[in-house]
Amino acid sequence: MSIKTVSTQPFTDQKPGTSGLRKRVKVFQQPNYLENFVQSIFNSLEGYQGQTLVVGGDGRYYNRQAIQIILKMAAANGFGRVLVGQGGILSTPAASCVIRKNKAFGGIILSASHNPGGPDNDFGIKYNISNGGPAPEKVTEAIYSHSKEITSYQILAAEDVNLDKLGTSQLGSMQVEVIDSVTDYADLMASLFDFDLIRKFIADGKLRMCIDSMHAVTGPYAIAIFEERLGAPIGTVQNGTPLEDFGGGHPDPNLVYAHELVEILYGEGAPDFGAASDGDGDRNMILGRKFFVTPSDSLAILAANAKLVPGYGSALAGVARSMPTSQAVDKVAAKLGMDCYETPTGWKFFGNLLDAGKATLCGEESFGTGSNHVREKDGLWAVLFWLNILAVKQQSVESIVKEHWQTYGRNYYSRHDYEEVDAEKANTLMTNLRSLVPTLTGKQFGQYQVAYADDFSYTDPIDGSVSQKQGIRIGFSDGSRIVFRLSGTGTQGATLRIYLESYEPDVAKQNLDPQQALANLITLSDDIAQIRQMTGREKPTVIT
Ligand code: G1P
Ligand code: ZN
Repeated sequence: MSIKTVSTQPFTDQKPGTSGLRKRVKVFQQPNYLENFVQSIFNSLEGYQGQTLVVGGDGRYYNRQAIQIILKMAAANGFGRVLVGQGGILSTPAASCVIRKNKAFGGIILSASHNPGGPDNDFGIKYNISNGGPAPEKVTEAIYSHSKEITSYQILAAEDVNLDKLGTSQLGSMQVEVIDSVTDYADLMASLFDFDLIRKFIADGKLRMCIDSMHAVTGPYAIAIFEERLGAPIGTVQNGTPLEDFGGGHPDPNLVYAHELVEILYGEGAPDFGAASDGDGDRNMILGRKFFVTPSDSLAILAANAKLVPGYGSALAGVARSMPTSQAVDKVAAKLGMDCYETPTGWKFFGNLLDAGKATLCGEESFGTGSNHVREKDGLWAVLFWLNILAVKQQSVESIVKEHWQTYGRNYYSRHDYEEVDAEKANTLMTNLRSLVPTLTGKQFGQYQVAYADDFSYTDPIDGSVSQKQGIRIGFSDGSRIVFRLSGTGTQGATLRIYLESYEPDVAKQNLDPQQALANLITLSDDIAQIRQMTGREKPTVIT
């Protein structure tokens, strides 16, 4: 087996976004495209010679081929050992768990998260550092710089590794260990939650549930945890076999794309609890019987009830949420006397807070919740957290949420997405808004007075790094907010996201449909940003 040095030319579009590099599969299949990016990752790292790398992905189309290339490149570049999930499968939180448990140097995760898969859809790759979390911006920027200058990459001329057989083999002087994709992760979950109590709760017939893995990576994890370890009936997990194209679906656990689960939870004889996760297993959607829990509320409720869960029984160090996430968790933090951090969108911004022990729970409105147990958001972890709370409180999901609103008030919340908008138009809309920002404070729009308006900038409290232009926030004197930002994960055109929030402390007014409760703010967002006129769209593509 010999190491080949292959000459290459840079691609200009290898800038990692909110969560790694995501492109159409066809882009990744161009000669040298993946290789250039992988070499750029290695070129941006120091001190990995002889160290361990973790590799795995969500099983989407091109996962296996990409892994073979990465293994051969890791061997040629001098890694000592690679741990790879069986069949190439590792959910994003499981990869984070494996990196941490094995004190690996880092990991490469192959996923485009909730984006559709298959030959005509998306693929993605990201690098995680030794804490198990997504590489911070200084690393992703270094990768991008290297990608613009690359002239060659190194790869071992070798046979493919058998990814399906557990065990160790040799690739040049590097060891490849194919590991069980589930065990380490399932063990970690068992160490955090009261599995005996949950098992009894299920066995006593007090909880009927339905878990939808959306033909994506969580299937094997969910079957092992819910059906095998917690004794839920076989069939509790639906769509549990990971497919390369996710069955043609869009593996995003929200009310639109997880409609199969929504129909079950809103149908005749609905179970007590339902949950879905996304392509790579880091997102979650929580449903009660005929009841949807917004991710922002879910984070607040987990924080308020953390004392009921063994892994979080002693006080939480603090909580953190991404800027566009509703302020529901802020209310909990204020009441419980803990710090609450507001970070830019993207899980990578939580890493430093978690490492420094400043935050224990983190969350994003985009169906992401997690804690310091790994350095990624974690879909099944959130489901187990809910099950643990349900088993202790012996109440329905709906009554837990409503009690929470009684205590803390309700933050009505919705996100409106305009997908695949012409990029130039979307950028103009944002530029126009940015120029309006300095003129808004103090202005009255109907019932709303602008208390502040800015383009969110974040200074990391641990390393002092500054991230600018993270979304335009317009806050009103009654606590309502509108936030505008462009997605950093899309692969076609631009996606404009508008986040709307209002606060309702009055219990008598807490049962409105959020779109109704937010109707005036929705109109106002269009008045201010001229969304319809600028995008040429009459309404959002997705409302969550
Ligand atoms: C989206 C979500 C963000 C999440 C990211 C990765 O990013 O909004 O909260 O961290 O996916 O799952 P965006 O497309 O908005 O940049
Ligand atoms: Zn994901």
